Amino acid sequence: MRVLVTGGAGFIGSHIVDQLLAAGHEAAAVDNLSTGVAANLPQGVPLYEVDIRDRDALGKVFDEFAPNAVSHQAAQMSVSRSVREPAFDADNNVMGLLNVLDHSVRVGVQQVVAASSGGVLYGDVIEPAGEDTAAAPISPYGISKWVGEKYLEFYAREHSLQCVALRYANVYGARQNPHGEAGVVAIFCQRMLQGEAAQVNGDGKYIRDYVYAVDVARANLLSISTELSQSFLALNIGTSKPTDVNELVSAVRSFCQQSLQESGSDIEVPVPFRAEPRAGDLRSSLVCAALAKDVLGWQPETALQDGLQQTVKWFA
Ligand SMILES: NC(=O)c1ccc[n+]([C@@H]2O[C@H](COP(=O)([O-])OP(=O)(O)OC[C@H]3O[C@@H](n4cnc5c(N)ncnc54)[C@H](O)[C@@H]3O)[C@@H](O)[C@H]2O)c1
Repeated sequence: MRVLVTGGAGFIGSHIVDQLLAAGHEAAAVDNLSTGVAANLPQGVPLYEVDIRDRDALGKVFDEFAPNAVSHQAAQMSVSRSVREPAFDADNNVMGLLNVLDHSVRVGVQQVVAASSGGVLYGDVIEPAGEDTAAAPISPYGISKWVGEKYLEFYAREHSLQCVALRYANVYGARQNPHGEAGVVAIFCQRMLQGEAAQVNGDGKYIRDYVYAVDVARANLLSISTELSQSFLALNIGTSKPTDVNELVSAVRSFCQQSLQESGSDIEVPVPFRAEPRAGDLRSSLVCAALAKDVLGWQPETALQDGLQQTVKWFA
């Protein structure tokens, strides 16, 4: 298959490119490099430095690469920016998606898989949320992901296109940008490997479902290579396992300490410090991925401790 990965120079997109190549597919990336970097891509993979909001430029990419399938990861993904600039968010996440879908239809793409988000759709949940949990997005980012799913459903129905929206839990792994507002594992790794204390907001009892980027990339591959009985499906991609920030920071701290010791450094990683709770942070967010197991045969394969150890190694 020839697969175009939007946001392919980003964190999750570049893992998808890696796995496409490993599975013998051809891959190309479209990215405006706003948060992604070209160095994330393996050598030889074409990178079209194009903004998905630029309909004409994107059209030329579709003409030239002529993909059979698209993995759509490019997005504005800062919740706080979406609150400050809802139009900028919608421009990227809704209009950008429509450009991708229109060009997909025009050049005869068969499958589109697109990144959605479990956390922003389901809000606070104590038990792992299934796909039938009512979506209640409160930020413009959540609204744009929700509207995006509705457009995927519409295009799947209207055109002969198989569309899958993957509702990721909290994704972590190598190459995650440590300068964003999410990506707590990346932020912890970067600080602690430099001998700085990590910041934990509030009491740290914020429960999340951490899923490894390599597992998320595999879900993308399965979504475009599996023939589904429905033309549109939204599927959760997570582990259902609750981990709070206190547990997470302590695991990352011990892997960072171990890594520093192994490299001969005498840096002692300081204990984390506490800061004020962040307004709007969900107390608990977990997804149930039973449907992805049923229809794609997907399940998470990487235990959190293993994934964290690999991630620290990469940041080191
Ligand atoms: N990381 C998570 O925990 C998480 C959770 C839920 C959903 N998601 C979704 O997964 C997708 C990938 O996120 P990520 O974590 O890899 O972030 P990322 O910032 O590393 O990746 C996004 C990529 O898209 C590119 N991009 C952004 N706007 C663009 C535009 N207008 N035109 C072209 N390229 C553009 C960026 O340069 C970047 O390379 C996003 O759609 C995000 O909303 C991520």
